[in-house]
Amino acid sequence: MPVIAVIGAQWGDEGKGKIVDMLAEKVQMVVRFSGGDNAGHTVVNQYGEFGLHLVPSGIFSTQATCVIANGAIIKPDVLLKEIDLIRSRGVDTSRLFISNRTHVIMPYHILFDGLEEEVRGGKAIGTTRKGIGPAYADKIARMGIRVGDLLDKDGLLERLRPVLEYKNNILTKIFNVKPLALDEVYNEYIKYGERLAPYVRDTVTMLEAALDRKEWVLMEGAQGTMLDPDFGTYPYTTSSSPMAGGACTGAGLGPSRITHVLGIFKAYCTRVGGGPMTTELKDEMGNALRERGHEYGTTTGRARRCGWFDAVAARYSTIINGFTTAAITRLDVLDGLPSLKICTAYRLNGKTIHEFPASIAELEKCQPIYEEVPGWQTSTNDARHFEDLPENARRYVKRLEEVIGCPASIISVGMRREQTIHKINILPQ
Ligand code: IMP
Repeated sequence: MPVIAVIGAQWGDEGKGKIVDMLAEKVQMVVRFSGGDNAGHTVVNQYGEFGLHLVPSGIFSTQATCVIANGAIIKPDVLLKEIDLIRSRGVDTSRLFISNRTHVIMPYHILFDGLEEEVRGGKAIGTTRKGIGPAYADKIARMGIRVGDLLDKDGLLERLRPVLEYKNNILTKIFNVKPLALDEVYNEYIKYGERLAPYVRDTVTMLEAALDRKEWVLMEGAQGTMLDPDFGTYPYTTSSSPMAGGACTGAGLGPSRITHVLGIFKAYCTRVGGGPMTTELKDEMGNALRERGHEYGTTTGRARRCGWFDAVAARYSTIINGFTTAAITRLDVLDGLPSLKICTAYRLNGKTIHEFPASIAELEKCQPIYEEVPGWQTSTNDARHFEDLPENARRYVKRLEEVIGCPASIISVGMRREQTIHKINILPQ
């Protein structure tokens, strides 16, 4: 029962979409276990280029069943639009299923996301304003609406009425904005329920059945470990766990079932929104990385903050996820640079530290300690085997393996599926 968890190891946007799209060809089930339409996964394949937000990247596989599990969160209209778009481009969506336990983003979540960001002022998190934080907060506060609720006409009204009354009180009395009308919200969401009904299942049972049949399952993460609300740069984090542990609670999967934890690392670092990023480059090199790597958000179009590879954060990510191998993505973006830097330690209050600090105040004071390594002057786009890479690129990958703390199984040298080096095979042949 091989289960591979594909986990963002940095601040998201590591290139998980391409890796999942590629691995999905070989597996029978792909399960998206966290996040919502704050995520944007770019996939380029025979159907064209897609910026997916909710539908698992495995949807393009000819045989994989795709599941949006309980740990994810959906905005029904966004999901329905995405399904329509994919179908209109010839992709079969009949193997897509949504857990009846998945929470739903409501119109007030979007409002609160924006209003709360305004209140934070200069300390804004820089959220995607998709309602993610407020919706997960409601899940924990036991005020959430789940996909299963949308299929129960009477039940939904009964559940929504007191929740909306409470939300309207906050909207009108605290934020001084107009309340939402119960009948409008109810009618809109009941219609979504009707359209989503064919996709809704108890996906725990489906996952268990797949494991019983000894099928290969891929757990598809969204965002990245450094955005985890427990272990990331809190409070500059997202609101669901993008980590390997999140794959268990986010899908109803026992931890012992996961056989391989694949950490996805970009060959450099990027981050969107606020919060500390020790290796951020606010100079020409940062701009160069952004332009070479087209580092603009798939979801919000925001320019990503770019910097050198942060091995302190990477090692921490390996420890808390238990990565068995790593995928190093976007190596080609570094082609032609005269030299590269890897941050191997931080300088904090005159001391050298190797542990990733929990405190934001401390993180903001950390200075990177770099090791400089020579770059390579040729393109890596056509490399298909590790030996095809220029010597300095091989050295860079080997150094990353050492500092990350696990071997690289996959190296990505371009957007297309075939622009990939399989250094260690982790899939069935
Ligand atoms: P939220 O998830 O929209 O609440 O945003 C919280 C933080 O996570 C912000 O800094 C966002 O920029 C960041 N974030 C959320 N989703 C992604 C993603 O898919 N990639 C990168 N950053 C993300």
